[in-house]
Amino acid sequence: MTHVAPDRARLDRLAPLVASSVALIARLQDDGGAYPASPTFSAYRGYSWFRDGAFIADGMSAAGSVDSASRFFDWCASILEERRAAIGEIVAAEAAGSPLADERMLATRFTFDGREGVDDWWDFQTDGYGTWVWAVVEHARRHDVPLERWGEGIRLTADYLLATWRRPCYDWWEEHPQHVHVSTLGCLIAGFEAAVASGQLAPAAATAARAAAVEARALVVERGTHEGHLAKWLGSTEVDGSLAAVIAPLGVIDATSALGLASIRAIDDALCVDGGVHRYLHDTFYGGGQWPLLSCMLGLAHAAAGDRERALAQLEWAAATVTAEGWLPEQVPDHLLAPDRRAEWIERWGPVATPLLWSHAMLVRLAGELGIMPAIPSAPTPPASTQEAAQ
Ligand code: BGC
Repeated sequence: MTHVAPDRARLDRLAPLVASSVALIARLQDDGGAYPASPTFSAYRGYSWFRDGAFIADGMSAAGSVDSASRFFDWCASILEERRAAIGEIVAAEAAGSPLADERMLATRFTFDGREGVDDWWDFQTDGYGTWVWAVVEHARRHDVPLERWGEGIRLTADYLLATWRRPCYDWWEEHPQHVHVSTLGCLIAGFEAAVASGQLAPAAATAARAAAVEARALVVERGTHEGHLAKWLGSTEVDGSLAAVIAPLGVIDATSALGLASIRAIDDALCVDGGVHRYLHDTFYGGGQWPLLSCMLGLAHAAAGDRERALAQLEWAAATVTAEGWLPEQVPDHLLAPDRRAEWIERWGPVATPLLWSHAMLVRLAGELGIMPAIPSAPTPPASTQEAAQ
């Protein structure tokens, strides 16, 4: 008798959306490797974020789209290599005790061809730089890909982050630049630890990265928690939906530890309504709706804590936000924290970003964790003559 998992039918129902999500991301990826945040949304069009992109690449990698993820990492590495001089100046100024202004730091998002672009943005956010290093090292481990290809990008990122990681900067939501954000620290810890594990750093940089990770972890525990759970920023008493990612997929805080479990509970209690997760309680962006990508991150944290049923319920909630076109939005307005603030954003930037590739990627990532793997077309078999020649 074959064993059929009790939730198999529920998983099977979600499989087509997982497959179409992978196909959508693959189709929209730029030839140069960049993943657009959202192809048509007025404020994001033409730009790729390190943060979104790193998580998208992680989702694609986990789904078996090895080449797609590798090409995104190529794009990241080339952006860093082209800014070697700027990074050198940032590092030198920091070492001389006269740090450069925020405006001199690396950008948050880039055009597909690797430029800063002409539109103003809330630049200086360090999280994405940590996240891409974490994601590329995970990717290499998962698929046994040599890391030398991204070695220079990893080294430059470590130099940049070692010089800047303690600085307050904008958070995942491109807000509150006066604070040091715990989710950002989580991304930086993951990045430092991955950089060390990659074996690509020179000994002195590896020692410094190891020490920075230890120091950042201590900071999180000492000043980045409240009543036993992770907090939005150092000294805050509130939570943020992005903190789920520090538990999973980043794995910086063990989901089954007291801190991990209390944080999952706190996010659930404060921000999760029927499976839909808000960013934070005072969110007013598009009225402060629920974000499918955060629902999936909370689902990943539940899965890491061993609660598969809750993880699957989170996945189902996220999947149910799909539009008739098969697209997942950035957020849905079913439960708004600030309903009277929605119209102003629609007027300013148009309807909510849809599709948001990061939403699709997190659905793919959580689905993979629960056992739904999309069928990836295998590389075409070379003609017999080439096979013989290769032998
Ligand atoms: C979000 C960011 C995201 C960006 C692109 C912003 O509205 O706050 O987290 O990186 O959109 O998707």
